Amino acid sequence: MGLDEIKPKKFYYLLHPRPVVVIVTKCANGKINAMSASWITPISEDPPTIAVAIDRASFTHECLEYSGEATINIPSSSHINLVYEIGTTSGREIDKISKFRIELTTSKRITTPRWSEALGWLEVKVDRYIDVGEVRLYIFNVIEYYMRKDVASEWGWDTRRASILHHGVGRGFYTIGKLLLAGGSIPT
Ligand SMILES: Cc1cc2nc3c(=O)[nH]c(=O)nc-3n(C[C@H](O)[C@H](O)[C@H](O)COP(=O)(O)O)c2cc1C
Repeated sequence: MGLDEIKPKKFYYLLHPRPVVVIVTKCANGKINAMSASWITPISEDPPTIAVAIDRASFTHECLEYSGEATINIPSSSHINLVYEIGTTSGREIDKISKFRIELTTSKRITTPRWSEALGWLEVKVDRYIDVGEVRLYIFNVIEYYMRKDVASEWGWDTRRASILHHGVGRGFYTIGKLLLAGGSIPT
């Protein structure tokens, strides 16, 4: 390796920070669970499809196998501690909804509830999956999506009002910085 290069501890550090979401799932015996995820991406517009990489050891994986649907809830930077907590504890051991006082409300088109305090929501159903290594890459059809009107327009987030949380590494998170417009001069 050249003197002017460094190999980070993990390959994916090159691909972080990434937006983080809270995945709410319906599990056996009526239990509801929530976990944080940042390995999520849009895939196709027609039909509206996203993919999320979910560790097969997680309780969320078990719940997705049970119910086949989820809500994808967009947290704000004010939720940083909650996002970290539900991303480092398992619903297999505790009831995260009551322990972390996660307030839920009815979704529009699926039976899994959504997180009331989120800034926006996607209601999704499992279309198919691919197992890769320790992960099940879920391909979800987007059944419904909506944002809080006070922080968004039909063009998406108003980042002066919505402080969208991104995950760096470990306990490190980021929010969005300056808006840059292509075609103009790049501010330094
Ligand atoms: C910011 C953040 C992002 C995470 N992203 C993912 C992810 O994309 N996929 C995943 O499987 N786990 C991810 N995790 C880890 C899970 O949230 C963690 O394993 C959680 O304990 C699983 O909970 P469960 O067993 O209740 O499903 C992330 C954790 C944090 C804190």
